Amino acid sequence: MLYYKTLITGMSKKIKFDVFLEEYDNASQLPAESLTLIKQARSYCHNAYAPYSNLLVGSAVLLEDGHIVSGSNQENAVFPSGLCAERVALFAAVAGYPGVIIKKLAVSAIRRGQTNHQAIAPCGGCRQVISEYQTSQDHPIEIIMEGHQGKVLLARSIDELLPFKFTIKPLDQPR
Ligand code: THU
Repeated sequence: MLYYKTLITGMSKKIKFDVFLEEYDNASQLPAESLTLIKQARSYCHNAYAPYSNLLVGSAVLLEDGHIVSGSNQENAVFPSGLCAERVALFAAVAGYPGVIIKKLAVSAIRRGQTNHQAIAPCGGCRQVISEYQTSQDHPIEIIMEGHQGKVLLARSIDELLPFKFTIKPLDQPR
């Protein structure tokens, strides 16, 4: 992410953010650990509980110690009680392995009854949760997303998806 301040005439300055994603033609061009992660996210789509949207989302988180923790979206008749795949995976990862650095998160989705995975990017709420952990661990979290027609999109950190964000660095936390 690049951050520019450009002086313009009048009283205000224009603030510009440039964000960058990398696009790969297919997942096999990724490093082995990222390929494993996106495959895991894909397989977890089939564990989704999504009777309302029929959008099956899978996510997988790679920790620095090599553990992979996965999740799928969990819906509810009371809609706000459901949770996205990314947060299911992230919360399980941090609950199970507190203090271990989160290196990467992959996300994939497929519509029930279809065979093609579709482009998906984390929603705003999930971006905020990724941002919280990235800030607290002071280490970038890479985000790997399915792109169109087998392509893969990569954000080197949450800053590329959430460039102007709310953060409070936790002070008295072990991580
Ligand atoms: N969903 C996710 O799991 N992750 C996202 O990044 C976007 C949306 C889920 C939530 C809901 O179960 C379904 O997809 C439709 O919004």
